[in-house]
Amino acid sequence: MSEKCKKVYITTPIYYVNDVPHIGHAYTTIIADTLARYSRLVGYDVFFLTGTDEHGQKIEQAAKARGKTPQEYADEISARFKNLWDEFEISYDKFIRTTDENHMKGVQKAFEIMYDNGDIYKDVYRGHYCVSCETFFTDTQLIDEEFCPDCGKSTTIVEEESYFFRLSNYETKLLEWYESAPECILPKSKRNEVINFVKNGLEDLSITRTSFDWGVKLPEKLGDPKHVMYVWLDALMNYVTALGYGTDEAKMAYWPAKIHLIGKDILRFHAIYWPAFLMSLGLELPHHVAAHGWWTRNGEKMSKSKGNVVDPKEIADAYGLENFRYFMLREVPFGQDGDFSQRALIDRINSDLGNDLGNLLNRIIGMSGKYFDYNIDSGGVKTYHAEELAEAEAVFARVEPYLYEVQTNRYLEELWKSLRIANKAIDTAMPWAKMKEGKKEEAMATIALVANILAKTAVLLHPFMPKTTDTIAKALGFVISTENYRKLVKEQALLEAFTIEKIPPLFPRIEEPLVATPQEKRDETAKAEEKKAAAKKEKEQTSKEASGANLITIDQFFQTQLKVGTVVEAEEVPKSKKLLKLRVDLGEEKPRQIVAGIKEWYGPADLVGTQVCVVANLKPAKLMGLLSEGMILAAKDDEGLCLIRPEKPKKPGSSIG
Ligand code: MSP
Repeated sequence: MSEKCKKVYITTPIYYVNDVPHIGHAYTTIIADTLARYSRLVGYDVFFLTGTDEHGQKIEQAAKARGKTPQEYADEISARFKNLWDEFEISYDKFIRTTDENHMKGVQKAFEIMYDNGDIYKDVYRGHYCVSCETFFTDTQLIDEEFCPDCGKSTTIVEEESYFFRLSNYETKLLEWYESAPECILPKSKRNEVINFVKNGLEDLSITRTSFDWGVKLPEKLGDPKHVMYVWLDALMNYVTALGYGTDEAKMAYWPAKIHLIGKDILRFHAIYWPAFLMSLGLELPHHVAAHGWWTRNGEKMSKSKGNVVDPKEIADAYGLENFRYFMLREVPFGQDGDFSQRALIDRINSDLGNDLGNLLNRIIGMSGKYFDYNIDSGGVKTYHAEELAEAEAVFARVEPYLYEVQTNRYLEELWKSLRIANKAIDTAMPWAKMKEGKKEEAMATIALVANILAKTAVLLHPFMPKTTDTIAKALGFVISTENYRKLVKEQALLEAFTIEKIPPLFPRIEEPLVATPQEKRDETAKAEEKKAAAKKEKEQTSKEASGANLITIDQFFQTQLKVGTVVEAEEVPKSKKLLKLRVDLGEEKPRQIVAGIKEWYGPADLVGTQVCVVANLKPAKLMGLLSEGMILAAKDDEGLCLIRPEKPKKPGSSIG
């Protein structure tokens, strides 16, 4: 790295505040954090920036939908991002918000400079706009003349007065940049995509809007208050306004950025618009724009509307923040998409961390305690294990370049080879056998070799898993610092005499997924709701019963007059399958006519002359046009119906009760 890069400036994208953070956002931030921590470890002066992107139509609409002002809404979501990064111990030096006063001043200053140098002119914009992507499209770019080619959502037709940036003037200069700085876009495969896009021709870019006002106003001197700046111009400028561009410029010494870390969906803005703006402003270009792929779920892009987003906090809480970091940085080759699964995460924890790293450490702690009371000396390492040590040093020298290429997976994959060398050394040298043979010095040398390999591995793993590696270092009797990085990694020194400390296992085995997936959660929520509804119903029922709502008093019971009656006549009701017409003597002047739905079980002949129980004070009703002056009591179950009759004949009209 050149002298100039002693200052290292690393950025994440600034996150839209229309959505809460998910693992895609966490991924970008964790990669950037790892690069920042690595840069600090090796001794650079680092400035690490993250923040939130708060203007634009999308945010204005999201706020409105929730009945909030855009500022209230932005405050709320911005705080959620900041809190999450704090909980994740992201080592940012500044958290910028595009609603910060100084940022807005800086953007206005930039606009003014670009306007003054002739790169901005006023015209009318006619075209299509995707609010979701905050992007303008021409007719030919749309799908089916309406839909956004990036996200597939419907676009709106816009025709409004607008200021334009002369992007077309920068075609050649951009192509020269891509040519002269082969690593300006990472991964390198993405560079070709960008070159082809630019070669197809660039149109001037509309950079102001008049149809809404949640954005940075134009500089006053232009006297055009109805315009606000295009959100991407506003947002991209954060990378320099965070260093004080246009206000207090002391921190501009960190410019140009070493790496802008982004997702592949926003590459065009960072690899085309951003360098063009910088050229117009006469500022240097970033060293790398590095675009990672998407995290998906079962092959589908994660999105709130699909309900398949994974909450990074939940995963980190369940599996351990640093294990989660390791997984994200190890699992997917940079630039490619990766499918998130807890199974894959568990496998990485059990296998790479538990078996390879954790067990090796345990073996060393165990043997050093058993044979040497934890006191180790590296004196014999070069005598007995020069070859293995050289092999391991070669690994350590090899891994570092991968980091600024953002090939974190390659870095870790390579680094793990050192653990294999160490494990093999133990298996081959068999210190336990050496001890039996009385070759204490050789046994000590093997244990010291492995401890040193572990120490150097821990230093190089530190940016990925800061706390875990601090614990490993403590167990090996040293601390991770820039000075020790220099000694152990750069100068290839060995730990001097040191004392090992016993620690509990770092990576307990995990058998089953610890977090319910969104689908499982939805199922569980549905089940829980069903259960809740059933419990509520039961509770209502019980409380009704308890409060007496279902009980009647004796007086209420006696309001019903039940009497014994004798059936004196019975006949079928024509055309009815169910009804019989009876005449029942209740000891009154004349028998009552009662229509009963008992034909399926009784014929007229079964009834005449027998006694029945009758509800005698029921309001008369008509059934199939026939007056019924009472109701006959019957009991019904699965096997059918039977009449309730007195056990012995009773006088017609005898009351029941
Ligand atoms: N506000 C703009 C960036 C402006 S930078 C000057 C923006 N914000 S964003 O919140 O939508 O996205 C921020 C970052 O998160 C992007 O790099 C994007 O690629 C990343 N991710 C969002 N969803 C993602 C996944 N599912 N997977 C991986 N990263 C993804 O764009």
